[in-house]
Amino acid sequence: MTKSKSTTDWGPAGWQALSAEQQPNYPDQVALAKAIDDLSRLPPIVTSWEIEALKDQIAKAQLGQAFVLQGGDCAESFSDCTSENIVAKLKILLQMSLVMLYGLKKPVVRVGRMAGQYAKPRSADTETRDGTELPSFRGDLVNRNPFTAEDRVPDPQLILRGYERAALTLNFVRSLIDGGFADLHHPENWDLDWVGHSETAENYHEIVSSISNSLDFLESILGRAVHETQRADIYAAHEGLHLSYEQSQTRFLEHRNRWYNLTTHFPWIGMRTAQLDGAHVEYFRGISNPMGIKIGPGMTREWLQGLLRVLNPENEPGRISLIHRFGAKAIEEGLPPLIEAVRETGAPVLWVCDPMHGNTESTADGTKTRRFDNIVSELQTAFNVHKSMGSYLGGVHLELTGENVTECTGGARGLTDTDLARAYKSPVDPRLNYEQAMEVAMRIAGWAKTNGS
Ligand code: PEP
Ligand code: CO
Repeated sequence: MTKSKSTTDWGPAGWQALSAEQQPNYPDQVALAKAIDDLSRLPPIVTSWEIEALKDQIAKAQLGQAFVLQGGDCAESFSDCTSENIVAKLKILLQMSLVMLYGLKKPVVRVGRMAGQYAKPRSADTETRDGTELPSFRGDLVNRNPFTAEDRVPDPQLILRGYERAALTLNFVRSLIDGGFADLHHPENWDLDWVGHSETAENYHEIVSSISNSLDFLESILGRAVHETQRADIYAAHEGLHLSYEQSQTRFLEHRNRWYNLTTHFPWIGMRTAQLDGAHVEYFRGISNPMGIKIGPGMTREWLQGLLRVLNPENEPGRISLIHRFGAKAIEEGLPPLIEAVRETGAPVLWVCDPMHGNTESTADGTKTRRFDNIVSELQTAFNVHKSMGSYLGGVHLELTGENVTECTGGARGLTDTDLARAYKSPVDPRLNYEQAMEVAMRIAGWAKTNGS
């Protein structure tokens, strides 16, 4: 493969010449340079083989032959890097993917918002409490949450701590999967203890036994194991926000003659940092990973077409996923012009619906929440809009957890605003809890059945 023009004039630090939104102000630049240098010498978290395998799967999803499930925390925190948490996250993604596979009758590609989702965009650089102004908390990769001057100073060492947590997380995920945890013959491995006998759990177990029976039937006819049922790949994704972190693990691989970001399989660009002449787009255009672009109200046709031109000049299949997040009320009007804009370019994209970030609201006491009905409504509208325009919604992007939290209202248990205080754990955005997440998966499966798609 010849080196494309887009990479010959590109280097992983080139973004530094441009204006970069949402970056921490490190008071100690020498310590920052040292952390970047240390990190750039450590081994990668993921490999180009895995990255290319994901790109191939996304290319299939772009053609309607697969569906992508992306899910995980809004922000991972270092203290949540525990075996229980990682297992719970894996379980919920596996269970959801099984339900979706059953309904959609297509391979489901699992991508966790995990192993690196440690940096967050903020609406303001500083936060003021009782007359004291301090830097905003930008995620565990950058600084610490308690409101003290010491905690809020951006600390370059945290970049290394984040890399280590990401590597530990993915190491455990890979070991579980290689050890047979994800074997479709043993979905009982993925049951979550606390769920008990809810209606959601009963529906899920019916689906599981139906799949197990079909699998047994098929394997007895074939006289051998069905390919790939013993393992399920899980890919990692995070917002490619903190450019020093991303840059440090960006390598030119001679054997592919291309650059890769080796901190994650799938980085995405938030809309806050997607300026065409900005540092993030400059960084992203040079790496060969499949990438997401978040789009929502305010994204224009010209801007989107410009992003596709800069980020995927050769129209490589599998490279671009457009993750739209309009909110239940705005999607019907906001999405169609963008579908048309993409169609005009002829560029291959995967359309993914994020029904979370356009539906965030605050309760009377200021708690951030999302209503289950709005989430489901945006998702259903997304399927309908794409279908009516001859396009294909090939993925869903969710903030969720396998834990029994009370952060979003509604769902089968009808959580209300007053339930939120009981188990609200997210330091940032509210997540679907296990039951709510499974309910979303079941709705997707149900719509697919009734639509025959
Ligand atoms: C996020 O995905 O957590 C996020 C901040 O989303 P958005 O940039 O779409 O608001
Ligand atoms: Co979020």
